Amino acid sequence: MFQDLHALHTDRSGRRILDLFAADPGRAERFCADLGEMRLDYSKTLIDADIRAALIALCEQAGLAARREAMFSGDAINETEGRPVLHTALRNLDGGPVLVEGRDVMPEVRATLARMRVFADAVRTGTLSGAGGAFTDVVNIGIGGSDLGPAMATLALAPYHDGPRCHFVSNVDGAHIADTLRGLDPTRTLVIVASKTFTTIETMTNARTARDWMQRGGGDPARQFAALSSATDKTADFGIPDAHVFGFADWVGGRYSMWGPIGLSLMIAIGPDDFDAFLRGGQAMDDHFRSAPWAENMPVMLALTGIWHHQVCGYPSRAVLPYDQRLARLPAYFQQLEMESNGKSVAMDGTALDQAAGPIVWGEPGTNGQHAFYQLIHQGKQIVPCEFMVAARGHEPELDHHHRLLLANCLAQSEALMRGRSLSEARAIVAGRGHDDAELDRQARHRVFEGNRPSTTLIYPQLTPDMLGRIVALYEHRVFVEGVILGINSFDQWGVELGKELATSLGPIVEGTQPATGKDGSTAALVAYALRHRDH
Ligand code: F6P
Repeated sequence: MFQDLHALHTDRSGRRILDLFAADPGRAERFCADLGEMRLDYSKTLIDADIRAALIALCEQAGLAARREAMFSGDAINETEGRPVLHTALRNLDGGPVLVEGRDVMPEVRATLARMRVFADAVRTGTLSGAGGAFTDVVNIGIGGSDLGPAMATLALAPYHDGPRCHFVSNVDGAHIADTLRGLDPTRTLVIVASKTFTTIETMTNARTARDWMQRGGGDPARQFAALSSATDKTADFGIPDAHVFGFADWVGGRYSMWGPIGLSLMIAIGPDDFDAFLRGGQAMDDHFRSAPWAENMPVMLALTGIWHHQVCGYPSRAVLPYDQRLARLPAYFQQLEMESNGKSVAMDGTALDQAAGPIVWGEPGTNGQHAFYQLIHQGKQIVPCEFMVAARGHEPELDHHHRLLLANCLAQSEALMRGRSLSEARAIVAGRGHDDAELDRQARHRVFEGNRPSTTLIYPQLTPDMLGRIVALYEHRVFVEGVILGINSFDQWGVELGKELATSLGPIVEGTQPATGKDGSTAALVAYALRHRDH
């Protein structure tokens, strides 16, 4: 499937990205994809017209158009779980019916969204209150897809935040909930238990701890708890009244779920209207993904750039580098989105893949990363394709000079990665320091930057709710396109199961109520160590 691309890769070896710009002054305009004022620039890569054509041919070979329509129209494309994949229905505000087994699911989606609006408004205005008065704080308890999306987006959209304070507890480590609840008023805190399955051990343990804390502190869990789940039969057993339960169907995958009830904490933080704007941003990306020709299609070109770098060039990871402090949680969010979706070893039909499907995804906001790991990105032997992201303007007009510095740094990094610095340029820098020629050469070699390192830049006017919706949907569809081309199921996650099972079996062993029989020597010795040191 990748033969033509491998041949092109070999043929282009030694070519420099800068030469592509020299040969084609219009390259920046030709190697980008736009959606309104949002632009994905992939010109700082070695992708040229032939490579792009060969990449686009992959879409045809994989039947991408048909798979895309199968997803949007509710076919059970998650074949290992026998489910449709319809998170797009949650943001289908202006679209027509979406049929699952012949039934339009949109009336239910709209009804749940309307209930969320009423609930969020009631919390925000104080119409709904705790035992001690209007809610001052909201604690979302969830993990993975039931945490990362709303946590990431609530921070990202802090300038739009005008509701109660929002906190996110995910880790089963008691430190997380203890640190979060410390200082909160148990009579004026709303606890939202977010769990698609309502069985996840971390979430249920934290939810019980929060309930005990509330009861001890004079709060009223019957009034002050809400649940977001597909397992609405289990929420009543926990004591959460139906009026506070927001359900969603099993065709919404956990890591794709922030568009619906799992986004309730975000809606409470920024308000229903801004939440709608977020949904509309996602919907705008859906419309673009369904209609734009491949070469102008942002999710498709982002996916093909990823395929080129990972499958063809063989770079094992990619860095996502938002130049926006409020996108600090975006790399973690993308790690789940991309690695839980495409970290697979078998094709949809069960046959083994002959190469890795999804790359390792990692990153940090700029400029902080520059003072940490960028050394390796610039001079390490490994090549790490970088995905920069930056807004033309921030939200602090009085601090505009900060934003200009931020922008300059972002653009400087992609330029430096591409341009590099030659040995003769490095020699010129250290010349005149009194070194003999051998020492001058030695000093200069440490200052050489190979350059020719690829990056993409996503640039947009400002990080608004609408823009965040576009960005998240862009990456969702990118993951889908990569999955289709690789022939895998991007919508299951069997790889998380074994660890969960073993943790359950280790429970009584680390409690000390069962021997470590059958465990390997290392695990048994570590358990013994922990038991010896357990008591303070
Ligand atoms: O870690 C596995 C996983 O199933 C994720 O896919 C999911 O987002 C997370 O656990 C939380 O699951 P739930 O929402 O059912 O609690």
